[in-house]
Amino acid sequence: MEFLIEAIDLRKRYGEVIALDGASLRVRRGVTALVGPNGAGKTTLIEGVLGLRRLDGGRVYLFGEEVRGELSSRIAKRIGVVLEGFSLMDTLTVVENLELAARLAGLRPSLRQILNALDKVGAKELARRLYGKLSTGQRRRVDIASALLGEPELLILDEPEAGLDPGARVELVALFEGLARGDGVSVLFSTHDLSIASRAWEAAVIVRGRVVEQGPPLEIARKYGGTWRVRARFSDGGEKVVEVGDLRDLPRVLEGLADAVFINVESPDMFNAFRKLAGYV
Ligand SMILES: Nc1ncnc2c1ncn2[C@@H]1O[C@H](COP(=O)(O)OP(=O)(O)OP(=O)(O)O)[C@@H](O)[C@H]1O
Ligand SMILES: [Mg+2]
Repeated sequence: MEFLIEAIDLRKRYGEVIALDGASLRVRRGVTALVGPNGAGKTTLIEGVLGLRRLDGGRVYLFGEEVRGELSSRIAKRIGVVLEGFSLMDTLTVVENLELAARLAGLRPSLRQILNALDKVGAKELARRLYGKLSTGQRRRVDIASALLGEPELLILDEPEAGLDPGARVELVALFEGLARGDGVSVLFSTHDLSIASRAWEAAVIVRGRVVEQGPPLEIARKYGGTWRVRARFSDGGEKVVEVGDLRDLPRVLEGLADAVFINVESPDMFNAFRKLAGYV
């Protein structure tokens, strides 16, 4: 099975609004970011794939099997989900929350399994704390632990970075990376934060209801994010900018600028790529 999720030509209208306009997405093992601006269709796509929103058209395959509408419990069991605006109960402790969430999902994990899920997200020491008194970043880790209780192969999160500071966002992607590498749990997350999308193994860029590009972030950056550019300044105040089309030419270019007093090398970047793909430039 090459793809955990294969969504082909998904369509969804809400009255006049076209939310999905032939969106296709392929999710491999690893960490995949679905990145797009507000209103691009991320939540509709994710919830459509999960059978939580009725789609007007298209086909969805999960783990190689075609699904229509509500997921069978056999497939649902293989997926852990944290949707947009998800929250556990403020007045319960973390462990009580996870016990409740598990029971609602038809699971009966032991305390050891609950602590193990918390451990995977680096939140074991929060076990006895009240959920409502945790910081946003701590709550997000506990939310993710609740989605791991059923030991899924695939974790799907809709905008998990909301409310997190830049450092906590980077830690969140590191957590996904750890889950994918260490625990064999693949992750699909939606985001409009390019800095965390660019840390995923693959990024799918969604704009106005269509996935306009998908691939490793560096490849997307190379394709759309401009060239390598060397900016050199000289002691007489002069400046020179050299565009480098092929990275292999960079050493030769730098050699030619040996008498510069300051050199800055700019790489093609995801921000430029995204701006171009989203039609901002
Ligand atoms: N239940 C709904 N009823 C009517 N229109 C909707 C509904 N849900 C979404 N839409 C519209 O569909 C489009 C796509 O919305 P969606 O929530 O999927 O985008 P998104 O990429 O998740 O945005 P955000 O980044 O703001 O969460 C938007 O124009 C939105 O207004
Ligand atoms: Mg959304």
